[in-house]
Amino acid sequence: MPAATVADLVPTSGVLFGCDYNPEQWDRETWREDMVLMREAGIDLVAINIFGWSTINPAPGVWDFAALDEMMALLHENGIRVNLGTGTASPPPWLSSTYPETLPMAPDGTRRYPGGRQAFCPSSPIFREHAAHLVETVAERYGAHPALALWHVSNEIGCHNALCYCDESAEAFRSWLQSRYGTIDALNVAWGTNFWSQRYTDWAQILPPRATLSLRNPAQLLDFSRFSSDAGLELYRAEAEIIRRHSSAPVTTNFMVTAHIRTQDYWTWAGEMDVVANDHYLDRRLPDPAAELSFAADLTRGLAGGEPWLLMETSTSAVNWQPHNLAKAPGELVRNVASHIARGADGICFFQWRASAQGAEKFHSALLPHAGTDSALWRQSVELGALLRRLAPVAGTRVAASAALLFSWEAWWALENEGRPSEALSYLEQVHAAHNALTAAGLTVDIVRPGADLDARSVVIVPALHVLRATEAQAITDAARGGAHVLVTFATGTVDENDRVGLGGYPALLRETLGLRVEEFAPLRPEDTVVLSNGSTGSVWSERITVTGAEVVASFTTGPAAGGAALTRNALGAGAAWYVATALAPADYAALIDRLATDAQAPRLRASSGELELVRREDGARRFLFAINHTDQDATVHTSGHDLATQEDVSGTVVVAAGTVRIIEESA
Ligand code: GAL
Repeated sequence: MPAATVADLVPTSGVLFGCDYNPEQWDRETWREDMVLMREAGIDLVAINIFGWSTINPAPGVWDFAALDEMMALLHENGIRVNLGTGTASPPPWLSSTYPETLPMAPDGTRRYPGGRQAFCPSSPIFREHAAHLVETVAERYGAHPALALWHVSNEIGCHNALCYCDESAEAFRSWLQSRYGTIDALNVAWGTNFWSQRYTDWAQILPPRATLSLRNPAQLLDFSRFSSDAGLELYRAEAEIIRRHSSAPVTTNFMVTAHIRTQDYWTWAGEMDVVANDHYLDRRLPDPAAELSFAADLTRGLAGGEPWLLMETSTSAVNWQPHNLAKAPGELVRNVASHIARGADGICFFQWRASAQGAEKFHSALLPHAGTDSALWRQSVELGALLRRLAPVAGTRVAASAALLFSWEAWWALENEGRPSEALSYLEQVHAAHNALTAAGLTVDIVRPGADLDARSVVIVPALHVLRATEAQAITDAARGGAHVLVTFATGTVDENDRVGLGGYPALLRETLGLRVEEFAPLRPEDTVVLSNGSTGSVWSERITVTGAEVVASFTTGPAAGGAALTRNALGAGAAWYVATALAPADYAALIDRLATDAQAPRLRASSGELELVRREDGARRFLFAINHTDQDATVHTSGHDLATQEDVSGTVVVAAGTVRIIEESA
């Protein structure tokens, strides 16, 4: 449970409005203008000193806090609270030139150089020592500063350097393995090192999974992913521990719950954050970026244990790091922001305040664009500030969800390891497909960790949960017996936590629950599809199944598993355990979830006409309906109350115009 709430950070704000600010890039006159404009936009919280190391500590033993002192005072005078970076995100060039061994190493043994950012090995004792000294100095100086609202540890820990293969990482990996396994024999068993003559007789023989000629040991790869996530978490812990000795302000770091970064198992991190914070940017490389945003926001709420969370970074318009950096369409920013708030965010912060004129991010959008204040982007920023103010009553309310989706970074790592049945099987694609189907069926979904208590869930979906422990399987079984309508999809429960296959037919720990055994995987070529006897279409995967008790709802009529079961249902206690052996087409998937939701009599939110993203936040009698229209057609929803977005009263069949948002405080 988070120790602080977003509302504690800026108690007067409601839904807070914030940004990253890099005053190092600007002169004093610009600073003064920035203060005026920040007040005009209604900025509550400003993150500074994120990349400040070389400014405050320009040479070994040399400290210069003049500019940071001045900025802290300036923000304070202007009534703006500070989200203070510890400054460790990117070491200055003097560190790596004095200690080249702190530089990170790629799997092929080549070093990565400074000149970008985050050029350090997370396990480097020298880096850690210098970072700790920096944090101590900063925390001592500003720990009780009246402007301080929040500590921002490092920045996106592990964004670029999570996986380091250097000798120091090797050393740290060995210690991590020693505490996990105790003896080398236990490690040999866990990693299955009798395979390909890989048996170790001394810890010193063990390396990170550096580049090899053939496939690497998948259990070693899985443990290296775990170790690397833990190494990042250790960096956080070390800084947080120092800060807490000097300051009572809440501490956090910005997560990267996003589609393209998967190196941190945030289930293991989240409990250590005083406030859960996430960075999210629309990924235009995906087929449906807004749907991915919804998923990421739901997952962030899951990490926050259902409590409100903080969107620490997003963009007003284009980013600069995708192949094609599209500007946001009119209305798109408000839709994105509404979707984050609908799914539990109580604060929206942007990277960054003022668009850089120099450096690698000069083409990244900002609240204040290159064009200056006489621009549509600036006017949009001011309007957004006003909208966030009007949303103050939403802050602190909870998202109402009766469905659950099980998500696991370990499953992501292990499923996409080397030597797998099909490269066409992407964990995240399967998870997104499940989330989309739940959403299309009108269900709001909590994303939970495997093993979480699923009591009171009416619909539970378990997509491609490749790694499964006995306790986690038991929670799924208990949910079905207790009355939930559970859907398990293919590629679930194939291996245990050591990446060892459960024998006797997949998924070993759920065979009985599902009433079937999968005898053989029969993946499809990426371009192929299969047809099911109920008319559904599948892709990516099929399987040869022997049914041992489940009812066959549909069988494969084409493809390598033709004639065999494709979709089954096993009545269990008060609920049911369903299984699907292929990646259903979106409409077929949604129809299947619709059936489960009907069986479960799950509460749903549906548009009266057209397509809407609908989510409700509530707190006792207070209810807020978020209706977001991502399409170019008007849609309607049945409700009544006061629309905080447009400031009008609505009732009955309410039109949500194409591309717009309504946030309705519903009447009792
Ligand atoms: C984040 C990072 C920011 C900025 C932003 C650009 O990953 O934390 O510093 O680089 O991306 O989108």
